Amino acid sequence: MEKVVEQVAQIIKESNNIVFFGGAGLSTESGIPDFRSVDGLYNQKYKFPPEVIISHSFFESNPIEFYRFYKDKCLSPMLKAKPNAAHLALAKLEKMGKLKAVVTQNIDDLHHRAGSKNILELHGTSFKNHCVKCGKTYSIEEILKSKEDVPTCECGGIIRPDIVLYEEALNQEVIYKSCKAIEDADALIIAGTTLIVQPAASFVNYYTGNKLILINLSEVPNESRIDYVIRDKVGKVFTEIFEYLGYDLA
Ligand code: OAD
Repeated sequence: MEKVVEQVAQIIKESNNIVFFGGAGLSTESGIPDFRSVDGLYNQKYKFPPEVIISHSFFESNPIEFYRFYKDKCLSPMLKAKPNAAHLALAKLEKMGKLKAVVTQNIDDLHHRAGSKNILELHGTSFKNHCVKCGKTYSIEEILKSKEDVPTCECGGIIRPDIVLYEEALNQEVIYKSCKAIEDADALIIAGTTLIVQPAASFVNYYTGNKLILINLSEVPNESRIDYVIRDKVGKVFTEIFEYLGYDLA
């Protein structure tokens, strides 16, 4: 095992206030493409660029095209996916009292399904939906089952996922809790994110300690500030760390 992985394992062993900050790269090992890798969503061909489709103004002006993309490229892979070793390891570390919060940019629900409890979903979740007119809530299954191009509520309003689209603000309470958890952490693990989408990426700056860990396949901005860099797949790394420490993933 690489020396840096051993050092990170040691930090995990000794810490009881770890916070995790993650992004789409956490779920690629579960079969959900990320956004910006070569095979990510932003490098595939659509009638409109994905970052345009998942914007507030596009949803308002062209909900049919929004839902065509969203059901096909987001919901279907998310429903098929299962938590991988990284999701399971984080849930286990929380149960062991070591990890205090998962701050995620992901909308795929995999942390919930892995058993994590304190999950701060900066960009919301696809697994909750509501009518924009009357507020009635709908499950993801109801959205996928809907035969209409655009799922509609019994009141006639359009149903939308509880996700933060481009041009929309993040939930204030989730921001506050995320920044507070990061600020209070004695170790912060960042993984599976290009760390470029704002404001989410800036929240990691609340961490001022000396156990800043990155597990990511590609480089992130200002990487020199990071204390431990592991350039590998996050699920694989957590598997190695758990084996090394003798922890059980289940
Ligand atoms: P990106 O697609 O920008 O970045 C994913 C990162 O994960 C890249 O740096 C990959 O190299 C890395 N990666 C992929 N698989 C990995 C693995 N198995 N192990 C380790 N690293 C891996 O995704 P995000 O940073 O999450 O926003 O993107 C942020 C936001 O941009 C998303 O939340 C979404 C998107 O537009 C909204 O929808 C509002």
